Amino acid sequence: MITINENYLKLQASYLFSDIAKRVASFQEKNPDREVIKLGIGDVTRALPKACIDAFHKAVDEMAVDASFRGYGPEQGYAFLREAIAKNDFHARGANISADEIFVSDGAKCDTGNIQELFSQDITIAIPDPVYPVYLDTNVMAGRTLNFEDGRFKGIVYLDSTKENNFVPALPKEPVDLIYLCFPNNPTGSTITKEELKTWVDYARANKALILFDAAYEAFIQDESLPKTIYEIEGAKEVAIEFRSFSKSGGFTGTRCAFTVVPKECVAYDTTGKVHSVHALWNRRHCTKFNGVSYPVQKAAEALYSEEGKVQAKELVDYYLKNAELICTTMEELGFTYDGGKNSPYVWIWGNMDSWEFFDMLLNKAGVVCTPGAGFGKCGNGYIRISAFNSYENVVKAMQRIREAFGK
Ligand code: MLT
Repeated sequence: MITINENYLKLQASYLFSDIAKRVASFQEKNPDREVIKLGIGDVTRALPKACIDAFHKAVDEMAVDASFRGYGPEQGYAFLREAIAKNDFHARGANISADEIFVSDGAKCDTGNIQELFSQDITIAIPDPVYPVYLDTNVMAGRTLNFEDGRFKGIVYLDSTKENNFVPALPKEPVDLIYLCFPNNPTGSTITKEELKTWVDYARANKALILFDAAYEAFIQDESLPKTIYEIEGAKEVAIEFRSFSKSGGFTGTRCAFTVVPKECVAYDTTGKVHSVHALWNRRHCTKFNGVSYPVQKAAEALYSEEGKVQAKELVDYYLKNAELICTTMEELGFTYDGGKNSPYVWIWGNMDSWEFFDMLLNKAGVVCTPGAGFGKCGNGYIRISAFNSYENVVKAMQRIREAFGK
């Protein structure tokens, strides 16, 4: 008899964004004449930068000719892309990351979800609350948690991110082995200073722990004093893996390209205390389960690092930041307190009511889709997240409708 992995039964009903999509579809079915503006899931709406499209086309043409056709590429990614990443994203920030420490993949969601399988079942995991649901759900699927009670999984050390700590959690009181951090943060839009990040790196070094640092939104950082990579922090190479994505920085959500940095210094231990290279483990996993990102997509990603590509990618990010600014000013006018929206495409708004109630109200009264904060964890209740990923015209319209919904 075929039996299931019962850990899946512990998961909450469905993945947050699928749940929202279902609610919106049902609203649209009942209200076919209402136009809905989606500021929920952080999905980009603008075309790929021209430099990417040109490189993409050229690479497709190469695939049409035997002499330049390519079959399987290196699982870890082509050297041209890994070298461009090392030079522009790390060496330019004073971080000594080499091309062979970079693993190109088809998404940060997959990498942040898959990385946990390198580690043993009985490690203690620290996960922020609120949080991007993938970190938690993949550990639930892997059987590292007990049951869900009172809004939380037993067996996880939750790191509360609240207004009181500016959405930058404090170090855990109990020892932990694996720590998930994300800055600029999804969903709160908060950022972390170098000093704050150093306390985490120091903690990990002192406790033989490992940090999984999700920097998928680093392109939105405007404040030059903030770290754009964890490797700007001394000692981070020993204890941190970093996840990056071209999804939001280059408009690649539908094109799929990302990368994970696993420094050679990163180690983990077996039960006898023997040291093992995390880079070697990830490489083994990557080569076994992944056959690389397609050549044209990697060429398109490489083009983001060309002179014109950099300018065009910055224009893309600036466009969404202008939307975020409009969302922030509207929330201020309406008297809501909010965070994020400055170095992030997400605005995190305190609604002073249940998150799903707020979500339903915006959908019914304004035809605007947001993301209810409670979907990201217990500490998210009372908040909603509004994403800046849409056209400026739609954001203007959505903000006008929200004003009207609140009688202003
Ligand atoms: C979000 O809305 O949180 C993101 O789009 C989810 C993702 O990047 O997978």
